Amino acid sequence: MIEVQELTSDDWKVWRDLRLAALAEAPYAFGSKLADWVDAPEEKWRARLEMPGARNAVVYHDGTPVGMCSGAPAEADGVIVLMSMWVAPAGRGKGVGDLLMAWVEEGARGSGAHTLELMVAEGNEKAIGLYARSGYAVTGSQEEVDGDRVLREKIMQKSL
Ligand SMILES: CC(C)(COP(=O)(O)OP(=O)(O)OC[C@H]1O[C@@H](n2cnc3c(N)ncnc32)[C@H](O)[C@@H]1OP(=O)(O)O)[C@@H](O)C(=O)NCCC(=O)NCCS
Repeated sequence: MIEVQELTSDDWKVWRDLRLAALAEAPYAFGSKLADWVDAPEEKWRARLEMPGARNAVVYHDGTPVGMCSGAPAEADGVIVLMSMWVAPAGRGKGVGDLLMAWVEEGARGSGAHTLELMVAEGNEKAIGLYARSGYAVTGSQEEVDGDRVLREKIMQKSL
């Protein structure tokens, strides 16, 4: 059975374990780095889950956590940013990504948002395919420079 569970900050250990696995498995996909989080204390994980207005979810497959993502308000009014999307390799190809996309969208609609937005690394075709299938279109691009690492990302949006 596959089910989505919304987390509170008391679930920080579940989130931490998945997030560290995500940063180790798919470093190309995220702005954050494993090194910045691997030794993070409880307060930092709780603060992440308590970001104002954010909703954070984990997907369980037969009781095992296999996927995660968040929807959080952007600076602009009425815009929800989808972030931290990851499905463990063993959970891929089962619609877990689609389920998480639908969960974020449902929350965004419930909060009265008019736009969903996300950033995805150029070349991350699996993720781009998931987002395109969910109705997102490329609206721009950006570059994040962190030391000698340059992350080139597409900005994708969906109007609600
Ligand atoms: C991108 C990512 C989240 C997709 O996860 P996923 O759960 O496999 O995503 P989907 O739900 O889209 O399923 C993927 C494939 O399974 C297929 N699928 C969906 N539901 C299915 C079902 N019930 N049964 C069989 N196949 C199914 C989809 O059609 C899709 O096929 P395609 O890739 O050939 O188009 C995952 O690959 C991942 O975590 N990648 C690394 C991290 C990352 O890139 N994150 C995004 C950061 S922006």
